Amino acid sequence: MGFELQIDTGLNQGFIYFPIFKRNMGNKKKKPILNELFESKNDHVETAEEINRDEFIKAVKSRRSVRIFNDEPVLEEDMRKCLELALLAPNSSNLQPWEFYWVRDQNKKERLVEYCLGQPAASTAQELVVCVARYDFWKVNAERMLQLFREKGDKIPKSAKIYYKKIVPLAYSQGPLGSFGILKKLIVFFRGMSVPTPREPGSRNDMKIWAQKSTALACQNLMLSLRAFGYDSCPMEGMDSKRIKQLLELPRKAQICMVISAGKRAENGVYGEQVRFDSNLFIKTV
Ligand SMILES: Cc1cc2nc3c(=O)[nH]c(=O)nc-3n(C[C@H](O)[C@H](O)[C@H](O)COP(=O)(O)O)c2cc1C
Repeated sequence: MGFELQIDTGLNQGFIYFPIFKRNMGNKKKKPILNELFESKNDHVETAEEINRDEFIKAVKSRRSVRIFNDEPVLEEDMRKCLELALLAPNSSNLQPWEFYWVRDQNKKERLVEYCLGQPAASTAQELVVCVARYDFWKVNAERMLQLFREKGDKIPKSAKIYYKKIVPLAYSQGPLGSFGILKKLIVFFRGMSVPTPREPGSRNDMKIWAQKSTALACQNLMLSLRAFGYDSCPMEGMDSKRIKQLLELPRKAQICMVISAGKRAENGVYGEQVRFDSNLFIKTV
């Protein structure tokens, strides 16, 4: 099995040519080194598997936010598989800035229902998962990636190591009191006047968004997986995030993305037909 290189060439494009960080690389026509790597040296072959389009559409269309669940349990094995599938979501720089707390302790579960404001989607749920965005994970997971590289030895291209050693810290570190972020913003502002430049993340808030994006994608993986396994779900942001953080003993930097409930829908579990505005309002061809 080949080792999968998972790299944001977009970020690389910006930072590898950053004059302040790397001199004499300001030639706009030159390709980013990692792009060259992909184009000329990648010998990993992974064919796209056939999937049943109708079954996929069925899973997407039949996923509804279920507010009342019946008494049927979610098999532990299924829940675990769905959580594992959540982790396969695409995520920024493959830094996996998330955590999923499957709350099984009865006492904690009762308190979690209370902190989800007692809403029926939580109180009738068989299982509850708190999905947490961890922007602070960029550092530890970059180190984990490098450790993985060390274990793989020669099989990892040098550029990949450079990416996690040099580019990732440049891109995600914001420095004490956001000082490095401010410096980056200034550089980005001036550089961006003449060449396309990646502009975020340049602050702690950007980092929160950065982690929330990837975590939300994993949440959707979880909900679609539950549907494919014959269960239902409801995402909830109607909750007391501070109390939930205390309940799970999470550090200050952890951000609750949402709580996801799971179970099988009761007969009256869906509150109405699915409503969406005209797609022309949202899908633009330009
Ligand atoms: C981030 C997010 C937070 C949500 N929070 C709640 C919530 O607290 N309680 C609830 O009943 N539904 C919640 N929902 C579900 C939405 O109300 C629901 O997705 C929307 O009405 C569309 O319905 P559908 O999911 O059945 O298509 C949330 C959905 C998302 C994506």
